[in-house]
Amino acid sequence: MEYRKFGMSDLATSALGIGGLHFGVYCDQARTTEIIHNAIGKGINFIDTAPMYGNGSSERFIGRAVRGSRHKVMLSTKVGLAPKNEPDGKFSVSIDPLTGQNIRRSLENSLSAFGTDYIDLYQLHAFDPNAPIEETMCTLDSLVREGKTRFIGCSNYDHNEFEIAFKTASEREWANFVSFQVQYNLIERRAERDIMPLCGARGIGVICNRALARGVLTGKYKKNEPFPSQSRASTSIRVRRLLSEENLNLISALDDFAKERGRSLAELAISWLLSKEQISTVLVGVRDLEQLKNCVEAVDWKLSDNDLNCIDEVIERLGLTGKVKENPEVFFES
Ligand SMILES: NC(=O)c1ccc[n+]([C@@H]2O[C@H](COP(=O)([O-])OP(=O)(O)OC[C@H]3O[C@@H](n4cnc5c(N)ncnc54)[C@H](OP(=O)(O)O)[C@@H]3O)[C@@H](O)[C@H]2O)c1
Repeated sequence: MEYRKFGMSDLATSALGIGGLHFGVYCDQARTTEIIHNAIGKGINFIDTAPMYGNGSSERFIGRAVRGSRHKVMLSTKVGLAPKNEPDGKFSVSIDPLTGQNIRRSLENSLSAFGTDYIDLYQLHAFDPNAPIEETMCTLDSLVREGKTRFIGCSNYDHNEFEIAFKTASEREWANFVSFQVQYNLIERRAERDIMPLCGARGIGVICNRALARGVLTGKYKKNEPFPSQSRASTSIRVRRLLSEENLNLISALDDFAKERGRSLAELAISWLLSKEQISTVLVGVRDLEQLKNCVEAVDWKLSDNDLNCIDEVIERLGLTGKVKENPEVFFES
């Protein structure tokens, strides 16, 4: 496993991190434990989750899985989004207020769900326009001083939201963000416009989520072929929305590129992200050991400058850069 500097912190994160969205949905406790033990065995030391993942059970499953090896992993969770039932029966998310009292309540719940007395990285899941930013950042500072969390970060912020929060903390010499979690992958490159340059300028570690575009960047979906029965497309409209003719053409071209080099498209998607040095860890959502093994294999594949240029050419030729539009944070897919 390769390890990377985690922003301005003194931590080194494994280049590949485990996303906890599936734990409690596709993975029961036994499968979660199996994946996490195997991941730790392969040198993975970063696990990301949120109180709402796995219909509320992801933190609990992860906590049980790391009992006895807590010191080997960085537990990263979030506050700021809550599941919401829409009148039409569909699920979506709403802001869970980033007030001092609510942050503290949520953090205590996370500690208890994990069965630990500290979190390694506590992230603001989304910007809350209604919570006073001084209150939010001051509370995070207190939590760091109290040892409840070692570091803090943000997720799904835009450039301005990040600057407001970062400036508030730095002017008061409070604990500040060390990381920025963002959706970034071969077909969703909006982060390149401002988030990546911002993180580079501020020395912020980037945590990439949706590295495989919810499984679309794995080669399992092909034009005019039915979805594999166990795949997310079979239950998720959001995955199916990504399967436009243009995207499938691009995916097929990238799949060919990977296969010509004896690799999978999932490996290409991960190694392409890892070619960017600002990225501290690439999160993957795996539902079994085979997927995990393949994702880990990607870490050893160092793409050459020539490879990177060829990939850009393929993407530009198919005219798709930055055009994929989807809601950045919708967890409940069926
Ligand atoms: N901060 C945020 O707002 C936010 C938002 C989204 C996600 N996240 C984080 O990012 C993590 C990953 O998100 P995600 O699971 O939605 O997206 P993802 O990592 O892009 O996609 C995961 C899917 O890819 C497929 N897959 C994984 N490895 C594979 C392999 N080696 N070969 C073939 N298929 C493979 C699986 O699809 P099948 O299930 O179809 O087999 C899996 O469900 C989450 O767990 C969470 O921690 C954070």
